[in-house]
Parts: sequence; C-alpha cells; structure tokens
Amino acid sequence: MITFANGRAIGYDDVGSGVPVLFLHGFPHNRALWAPQLGALAVPARTICMDLRGFGESEPGDHDGVDGYADDAAVLLDVLGIDRVVLAGLSMGGYASFAFWRRHRDRVRALVLCDTRATADNDTSRAARVEMQAMAIERGSSAVANQMIAGMIGKTTREKNPELADELHRMMSLAPVIGVVGALNALMTRPDSTPTLATIDVPTLIVVGDEDVLTPPKDARAMHLAISGSRLEVIAGAGHVSNLERPATFNHVLSEFLVSLTAQ
Ligand code: MLT
Repeated sequence: MITFANGRAIGYDDVGSGVPVLFLHGFPHNRALWAPQLGALAVPARTICMDLRGFGESEPGDHDGVDGYADDAAVLLDVLGIDRVVLAGLSMGGYASFAFWRRHRDRVRALVLCDTRATADNDTSRAARVEMQAMAIERGSSAVANQMIAGMIGKTTREKNPELADELHRMMSLAPVIGVVGALNALMTRPDSTPTLATIDVPTLIVVGDEDVLTPPKDARAMHLAISGSRLEVIAGAGHVSNLERPATFNHVLSEFLVSLTAQ
C-alpha cells in the first residue's frame, strides 16, 4: 500500500490485528525484508512494515539522516491511527529506532533491536561509506549488493540456502540509487546511541544471529548490558538478517516477547 504524508509517498504493508508492531528494514533493503514476519506471528499482532525514504515505494525526503526515517515512521503511525507500537528495527532500522526513541519515545511500547549496534561510524567506516556512494552513482545498486551480500548472510545460510542469498541480492540490487546515497549519508552521520541506551525504560528484546559479522553478537551483548531489564536472544545459524535466515526461530522469539508484554 502507499500513503501520502507531507506530500511524499510512503510504501507500507499492514497485516493482522492485535498489538501493533512496526518493522524498519536495514540497508539497502526494503520492506519485503519482513515478509516472513507479516501476519506470521503466533500471537494476535498488527504487523506493519514500511519502506524507509528512498527505498521501495517510499519517495526520498528533503534531507538525509536517521531522524528523517524516525519522523516518517511517526507520520505513518499518525496515518494509521496508532498511538503506541512495538518498534522493531534491523541494523539501519535499529539506528532509526534509536532516533525514534529520542524523538517520539511516548509512542514506543517496546523495542526490538535486531542485528544492530549503538555505536556510530568511525573515520574508516565513514570513508568507506563515501566510496560506496561513488560506486552506487557510477555502477548502480547491484555493485553495492555485490560488495555487501557476503557479509549480509551467515555462513550456514550461504551453504544450505544459497537461494536466499540470491533473493536478498536481488532486493538490494533493486534499491534506488538515490535511496542508497541518502542512506549512506544517514549511516555516516548517525550519532553515537550509546548514551541513549541508559534512557530506554520500555521492555526491550535484542536479537542477533550468531554468525552476524556486520553487527556481531558482541555489539548485541554491549546493548544488553546497557539497557536495563533487556532480553538477549542469539539465533544459531543466522547471520545479519536473522529474521530472514531463521524465520521460525525469529518469529518464536518475537512472539514470546509480545506475550510477555501483554502479561504485564
Ligand atoms: C544494514 O544492514 O543496515 C547495514 O549493514 C548497517 C551498516 O552498514 O552499518
């Protein structure tokens, strides 16, 4: 579906009814990343996923940055008439979730931080982002997908389910270059969210694949230690896109977490 908010298209899907869960994808994905979760949780849930600006069916914004992604998510919630959500973000979607928490925390019922980290880029990673922007402009998103795909998918999935790597590669290759360039700006300018962790006082689930090499389990453990009362789940045999690589385990873990919320 597409809605127009502040004159810009936002692509989204909205499936089921129950506790609202809004999913934010990583870089350079689109909302199809969450296909295994939509309408597939073991508890009554309203599962919503959106294309971040510049990806999928969402138009680019007038400025780049994780705050823009967060504000678009808040606007979509307004359009859908949802006050508070469980916000689930993977990797870049996690960086956007931290921004959402800083800017709209009264709308967060709980957080699910998937294969992400709190720290900002360092000088080396910023330089690599700039190089990737040039590559995207010169050679297109498929060149970005070629460079990133090995790190995206865990070793087990690469060996046992290479079709999934192909599927993800296709998704990444389809990313509009304007979205890729904008996201790289957002990634390299995102603030360090480490100080934010201590402010999080809603139930928080942290999920990471044990084969994630982009945001490895040590980053997840650091967030777990810093977010009071958080729960950490390490998914065996999954890499950076744990929701896609091990959907049954991921959905089980997320469903259990949602049950724990309704019991509160
Ligand atoms: C992502 O999956 O969103 C990216 O790998 C995040 C990053 O490069 O920092």
